[in-house]
Amino acid sequence: METPFTSQQTYVNEFTASDYVKTYYVAEGGVVNEEWTDFALRTLHETFTKGKTYQLEFITNIKYEVSQESNRRPNACTTFLWCGPSDSDGGPHSICSPQHGPGGVKGETLLDFGAGPTIYHLLSASEVFDKIITSDYLEQNCAELKKWLNKDPSAFDWTPIIKFVCELEGNRENYEKKAEKLRSKVKEVLRCDALKKNPFDPIVLQPADCLLTCLCLEAPCEDIKSFCTVLKNFKDLIKPGGHLVILSVLDATFYYVGDKYFSSMTTRKEELEQALKEAGYEIEKAVYTSRKDRSRMDIADYQGFYYIHARKPK
Ligand SMILES: C[S@@+](CC[C@H](N)C(=O)[O-])C[C@H]1O[C@@H](n2cnc3c(N)ncnc32)[C@H](O)[C@@H]1O
Repeated sequence: METPFTSQQTYVNEFTASDYVKTYYVAEGGVVNEEWTDFALRTLHETFTKGKTYQLEFITNIKYEVSQESNRRPNACTTFLWCGPSDSDGGPHSICSPQHGPGGVKGETLLDFGAGPTIYHLLSASEVFDKIITSDYLEQNCAELKKWLNKDPSAFDWTPIIKFVCELEGNRENYEKKAEKLRSKVKEVLRCDALKKNPFDPIVLQPADCLLTCLCLEAPCEDIKSFCTVLKNFKDLIKPGGHLVILSVLDATFYYVGDKYFSSMTTRKEELEQALKEAGYEIEKAVYTSRKDRSRMDIADYQGFYYIHARKPK
């Protein structure tokens, strides 16, 4: 079914930060909470903190398909499946692929693009970057982010998610210290617009060591061509040899925030990898997983999730 594309003005008028976090991030009740946050927090832990001081036990019952291209083996591309034990006994499982070394993505500055009103995706990164700049298109989302940063009592409570990340990291510190660490690392909350050549115009940012973006580009981009243009523009925001980490949903056409409808660009795996290559990135790792819980397809109709770690060539 053809769905109307959501204009930027509709975002301004109809996207409610509190409805968004309540719909998608409330523990035990958020529509995408379990599968999405599980996928995102684990892959981000792998990216930033796995192997920093501890060994990750990767417990999953989701089937992951991983394709990996290594800089060290520029012509090699290994595709394999991570099969959680659900196929056999349904219990927890520990997977450590020898092809994947410790997280390893780190640096001085992380630029977070299109955070919405959320901070979950920055928890692991806060361990390995000195400075985090977060951003969103909407003023109401930036205001919600600032509420959490300033410990406003009316801010959304991210405690269950922070505790989950602490567990992934081996509980080296308690969740309150973890939250404080992230607060201390976030130095700026900026407005951004993916559809501008310089998305931070009139501000010109120094290129970052890593640009991270979660569940964002399917909102402003109408098609894969526009998505590819955004990726090209992002290269000015990343240092040579720096990292681009993108996580989002596959094959979606819409999502709801409260009773408001928003369109989603329909991202397909093959087009996605092609767009990254066309934009001039080297793909380090790609992970795809299909949606298991289909109980609320009426609220958001994505069919799976993707994670891509790519690099801007040196
Ligand atoms: C589905 S929400 C994702 C929020 C958050 N990143 C998350 O992981 O839950 C889509 C986000 O895209 C943002 N957005 C919409 N148009 C944008 C644009 N032109 N440039 C940057 N972000 C945009 C919205 O403000 C919203 O925060």
